[in-house]
Amino acid sequence: MTTNNSISYYQGRFSVAPMLDWTTRHCRYFHRQFTKHSLLYSEMITAPAILNAKYDLLHFEKAENPVVLQLGGSDPKQLAKCAKLVEQCGYTEINLNVGCPSDRVQNGMFGACLMAKPELVLDCIKAMKNEVSIPVTVKHRIGIDDLDSYAFLYDFIQKLQPVCNDFIIHARKAWLSGLSPKQNREIPPLDYERVYQIKKDFPHLNISINGGIKTIDEIKQHLNFVDGVMVGREAFQNPALLGHIDNVLFDSSAPIITPIEAIEKMFPYIERQLSQGVFLNHIVHPILNTFQSCRGAKQWRRHISENAYKKGAGIEVIETALNFVKS
Ligand SMILES: Cc1cc2nc3c(=O)[nH]c(=O)nc-3n(C[C@H](O)[C@H](O)[C@H](O)COP(=O)(O)O)c2cc1C
Repeated sequence: MTTNNSISYYQGRFSVAPMLDWTTRHCRYFHRQFTKHSLLYSEMITAPAILNAKYDLLHFEKAENPVVLQLGGSDPKQLAKCAKLVEQCGYTEINLNVGCPSDRVQNGMFGACLMAKPELVLDCIKAMKNEVSIPVTVKHRIGIDDLDSYAFLYDFIQKLQPVCNDFIIHARKAWLSGLSPKQNREIPPLDYERVYQIKKDFPHLNISINGGIKTIDEIKQHLNFVDGVMVGREAFQNPALLGHIDNVLFDSSAPIITPIEAIEKMFPYIERQLSQGVFLNHIVHPILNTFQSCRGAKQWRRHISENAYKKGAGIEVIETALNFVKS
């Protein structure tokens, strides 16, 4: 971590979490309108999906950068091949998913179950790092099942630290059976102190914290103890939060982007996507939540939900919906 006065320029000082089906390229483009400095994560893409894909799963617009491509997998050779492709495509970083507890992911032997196999994670990271010069990072939980002591977490990081400098820690453990992925984001209790302790014990590593963080004040509070904060659901459900990040966390003097401005800044992008054959319905998911509890917010949502899926739906759907919140 480098510091300049009180400002940290650590790349992951603030990031928007990887979220399957949510942090699509359209979502990232939208979030980027609010914040230039935040690190944005892709959804998890598995190594076999990338290698077998009939179309290009890695395609993204460079204007979304800095973007981290999150990989799922546990085969070092496959991951190394993917890492090379990810770097060639122009992503800023690569992240390995060691936190997802879904059955599908466990059956593929990756995600959170890899916390029990630090030697394999080490091989995966090594293999990727041999192929690329961009950073390779790990996102994981504080534990899994009964492997949930501080000593277990310490040991996991201790084993990886020779090859990995950046850890993003979701501050709750995961139960690998019995809970759905959604329940695994809500039921196991958050333990922020444990993440803070990791930073104390490994001061040379970049440690980011994740889980249940919702406000700018909370983000600032965590940054007293760790290097970075990752926010997931709140960023998606209340994207206006992102409009404050550059100003407050990166000391930017650029004006705060309002939700209406962010939507208007999306127009050329949306037009471009439509002209390339993308359906409006596929683009609008991340913008539906843009207006929270303000006048016209319900009509905004309703108008888009009722019209974006229609054949030939175009930018006029968004323009009309915007009038509800502008008036
Ligand atoms: C819809 C959804 C999809 C998610 N997909 C992923 C994923 O692909 N990879 C991953 O590491 N975490 C995934 N997560 C977990 C988030 O990255 C994050 O760790 C979790 O939501 C806790 O952060 P939060 O409380 O700020 O939302 C997902 C979460 C949600 C809500």
